[in-house]
Amino acid sequence: MVMETKTLLFSTLPRLSYVLILVLFSLVAAAASGSLSFNFYAASCPTVEFIVVNTVRSASSSDPTIPGKLLRLVFHDCFVEGCDASVLLQGNGTEQSDPANKSLGGFAVINSAKRLLEIFCPETVSCADILALAARDAVAITGGPMIQIPTGRRDGRESLVANVRPNIVDTSFTMDDMIKIFSSKGLSLEDLVTLSGAHTIGAAHCSAFSDRFQEDSHGKLKLIDSFLDTSYARELMSMCPAGASPSITVNNDPETSSAFDNQYYRNLLAHKGLFQSDSVLLEDERTREQVKDFANDEGRFFESWRQSFLKLTSIGVKTGEDGEIRRFCSEING
Ligand code: HEM
Ligand SMILES: *[C@@H]1O[C@H](CO)[C@@H](O)[C@H](O)[C@H]1NC(C)=O
Ligand SMILES: *[C@@H]1O[C@H](CO)[C@@H](O)[C@H](O)[C@H]1NC(C)=O
Repeated sequence: MVMETKTLLFSTLPRLSYVLILVLFSLVAAAASGSLSFNFYAASCPTVEFIVVNTVRSASSSDPTIPGKLLRLVFHDCFVEGCDASVLLQGNGTEQSDPANKSLGGFAVINSAKRLLEIFCPETVSCADILALAARDAVAITGGPMIQIPTGRRDGRESLVANVRPNIVDTSFTMDDMIKIFSSKGLSLEDLVTLSGAHTIGAAHCSAFSDRFQEDSHGKLKLIDSFLDTSYARELMSMCPAGASPSITVNNDPETSSAFDNQYYRNLLAHKGLFQSDSVLLEDERTREQVKDFANDEGRFFESWRQSFLKLTSIGVKTGEDGEIRRFCSEING
């Protein structure tokens, strides 16, 4: 009887509704099975990607530092508690209480995309998805590859400062330290080399690299990290003189700082990696060949970036019934 009714129902429905029902079924199935999927918001918020990219584009055109900030923000989100927007939560003792927060930015862009989305698709799109999409768009609008990424991430309800240090990589880390953290996130040595290519855009504060050289009492350069190119070190020293304001920033990529390209790897070959953790990719024979490969072939870097970025933005995602869809990205729902 039930069978008969179903058959009758499907045969009399116009083909379009049949397709729609199938789409809905697969969406519900994806949500229930707890995985990310492409077109997750196809029915519930078809304009989501359009709204995010427009927000990122307009913010970036008035402030060119935005793409770098968004790209770094997703890294800090995904490595700490998974890609669940925990980095966006304000309050006592959240991840934002870690000193790294001082150099994170782009929060306002995510908040403003969220405000728009709450008008068009209330209580539907997670802050974690907005952040992943915004970082994806930041790469594309600076000239990098455009990547289709799956969505369906849900927002975490917890954010603890104690989780930051054990999960974030510092510039002083050795290759082995970096490998340990990356592999604990399911990322390979190749992902490490590839994702470090993010340093082809954006900027850094002097304190992130100033221990690699010193200015002696005569104002002359004393190289501490001998792997650093001397003339580059001299340039850095003049941009970061002793006693300079802690708010000064220097471009990560001294050549093409606003373009997402393979210049980062060319800089590494020229011993112009800004952080010790960048230089080590050329110094270590486990990663040297890949650095040369990407320096010589931007297409290979971009192809690898697609895969590694998908992995980065899938780390520890909460899906299905986990977490929640926050109404405001900076606070959990009451
Ligand atoms: C592998 C270990 C890594 C280390 C040690 C590292 C460290 C840093 C440091 C110290 C800064 C400068 C922060 C400041 O002083 O303002 C920075 C900037 C940046 N990092 Fe990384 N990072 C790493 C990996 C990554 C990854 C995987 C990504 C993204 C996929 C990324 C994206 C960025 C971006 C885009 C900036 C520029 C931020 C801006 O312009 O505001 N980094 N990184
Ligand atoms: C954080 O702690 C301070 C002092 O202990 C308190 O005044 C403030 O209300 C707290 N803020 C939040 C968001 O809990
Ligand atoms: C973290 O940084 C953001 C942006 O700079 C700022 O709005 C926020 O208040 C900071 N949070 C803390 C706890 O310092």
